[in-house]
Amino acid sequence: MTLTTLPLNNGLRIPSIGLGVYKASADDCYNAIIEALKAGYRHIDTAAAYRNEAAVGRAIKDSGIPRSEIWVTTKLDVDDMNDTTAAFHKSLELLQLDYVDLYLIHAPMRETRVQAWKEIELIYNSGKAKAIGVSNFSVAHLQELLNSSTIIPAVNQIELNPFLQHVDITDFCKSKGIIVQAYSPLTKARKLDDLTLVEVSNSVNKSPAQVLIKWGLQKGYVSLPKTVNATRLIENISVFDWMISAGDMTKLDALESNFVTEWDPTEWE
Ligand SMILES: NC(=O)c1ccc[n+]([C@@H]2O[C@H](COP(=O)([O-])OP(=O)(O)OC[C@H]3O[C@@H](n4cnc5c(N)ncnc54)[C@H](OP(=O)(O)O)[C@@H]3O)[C@@H](O)[C@H]2O)c1
Repeated sequence: MTLTTLPLNNGLRIPSIGLGVYKASADDCYNAIIEALKAGYRHIDTAAAYRNEAAVGRAIKDSGIPRSEIWVTTKLDVDDMNDTTAAFHKSLELLQLDYVDLYLIHAPMRETRVQAWKEIELIYNSGKAKAIGVSNFSVAHLQELLNSSTIIPAVNQIELNPFLQHVDITDFCKSKGIIVQAYSPLTKARKLDDLTLVEVSNSVNKSPAQVLIKWGLQKGYVSLPKTVNATRLIENISVFDWMISAGDMTKLDALESNFVTEWDPTEWE
């Protein structure tokens, strides 16, 4: 399985599918990453808040795959934003890595987001994060950052699937060359039995989960599906040799219903 990649605004290319490990216990996370790397994944999405960075690091080391071939993203915990540099080094230590490929502000805490970004710019300039970005930023949050900083975020990671499309944010990101990463692309498995989704799945002869991932890829987003199940790992990455038709994409687009699964920090002030 060969992953496609997308170009970031600093010239790097990011694999278009990443394995999400939110709410995966250390053991599940370790095993899932070992299996995922065997299946062809080359991109892992973790966060300090997930408390499994150490398991991610161990799995990468034990996989035997060269570090340079694996894209590792982690995120700055909202509680650590007044001590960003120390939090970043703690993540590196837990991951047992010399650098991460992408470091994100996990969510736009009002009091600390601009200062945290300035520190993240320094981390980027030091070479210890190859790309930097944000997560859960609205257009207003992004605008504020662009007005007060020198480096444009490479990505904005937001909750994104046909049931929650954030078109204002995705349009803005596109206009600024910011790649959008779709988190909870599978709706946390809550909408997999939606009738329209099932109808499209039947028409392409793929599973609802595969259709949701492919919808994001065809929109130009990076997709971050989470699974700790070896069979579903392969299912979720088997999305590169078929397409959803324009007509079926329109049907999926019509599913917008502002369906937030857990939190929506894009609403924060
Ligand atoms: N930046 C942020 O604030 C933020 C917030 C949330 C998530 N994320 C990132 O995005 C990743 C994915 O989001 P998510 O974990 O919220 O949810 P998700 O990927 O939308 O859904 C995961 C759920 O779907 C199930 N699943 C996976 N593949 C499946 C398949 N092929 N068929 C049926 N069920 C399937 C999983 O169960 P099994 O594991 O049992 O397969 C799990 O219950 C996270 O892990 C994290 O990396 C970021």
